[in-house]
Amino acid sequence: MKPKLIAHGGAWSIPEKFEKAHLRGLRRAVSEIYPQLLTSISALDAVEAAVKILEKDPTFDAGKGSFLNLNGEIELDAMIMDGSTLNFGSVVAVPNILHPVALSRLIMENTEHCLLAGTGALHFGKQMGMEEVDPHELLTSRELKFYEKIKNDPDFKTKSPFEPHPKGTVGAVAMDQNGNLAAATSTGGTPRKLPGRVGDSPIIGAGAYADNETGACSATGWGESIMRVLLCKTSSDLLKEYPAETAAKMSVQILEKRVNGWGGIILIDKQGHYGFAHNTSKMAFAYADEEGKAIARIKI
Ligand code: GLY
Repeated sequence: MKPKLIAHGGAWSIPEKFEKAHLRGLRRAVSEIYPQLLTSISALDAVEAAVKILEKDPTFDAGKGSFLNLNGEIELDAMIMDGSTLNFGSVVAVPNILHPVALSRLIMENTEHCLLAGTGALHFGKQMGMEEVDPHELLTSRELKFYEKIKNDPDFKTKSPFEPHPKGTVGAVAMDQNGNLAAATSTGGTPRKLPGRVGDSPIIGAGAYADNETGACSATGWGESIMRVLLCKTSSDLLKEYPAETAAKMSVQILEKRVNGWGGIILIDKQGHYGFAHNTSKMAFAYADEEGKAIARIKI
């Protein structure tokens, strides 16, 4: 199979002044990782590595640059899934880790569990040799300023798609030379969320899903709505009957019609076709084209 790689950096009304940074970050993730996928690494390695690049980039709401919760703290959610085994690993509300996607993979491959939460997840990560970072290393002045602005604003609603604040959850989907599919998603969640709030990103079938028999997906957007329709599993089921582009569009239509939800999805079907859709004004994403060139876009 010809390897494929697609990544996203959030679906929301990305202001023009932030567009370049989104496109640059996503282009970098695809152009650094795709050549490795062509020659050596697995789909699972590729989605982990691509998401790690995006977690390190403060442009996005994942790892460094994440939103602060009501208490002014950062709690991260992530998930990774292997389409060949249907195995997955997730972390929810974990503090003080730069790469929750890597911690998710450690859970998947080194425990009998699928999902670890909070300080338990952090403790396990440290046992496995991951570095606990100072919370200030994840914090950006942009997010601190934004938190100060909204923390006591009674009109602030995290679910409104019209609020001009970043919602740049990140994700990646890959197919390797053996036709194996994988997906990963990582997020800092929503701004001013209640401590302990968990969104769609680490929930299997909601924020990500991978099945070699159908396809693999990663979602972004308003988590409470994405969870209600299990957006990525819905997409994966639609791939049994529809081409990639149609399945992506139909699943976002279901999100909007059934739960008034909003967001976006990227996917690769089992034949290696890309699909992407969003019902927000913009979605930042990038993929490797037929020549292996990274194409970055801010909307469809
Ligand atoms: N989609 C990210 C979140 O709602 O947490």
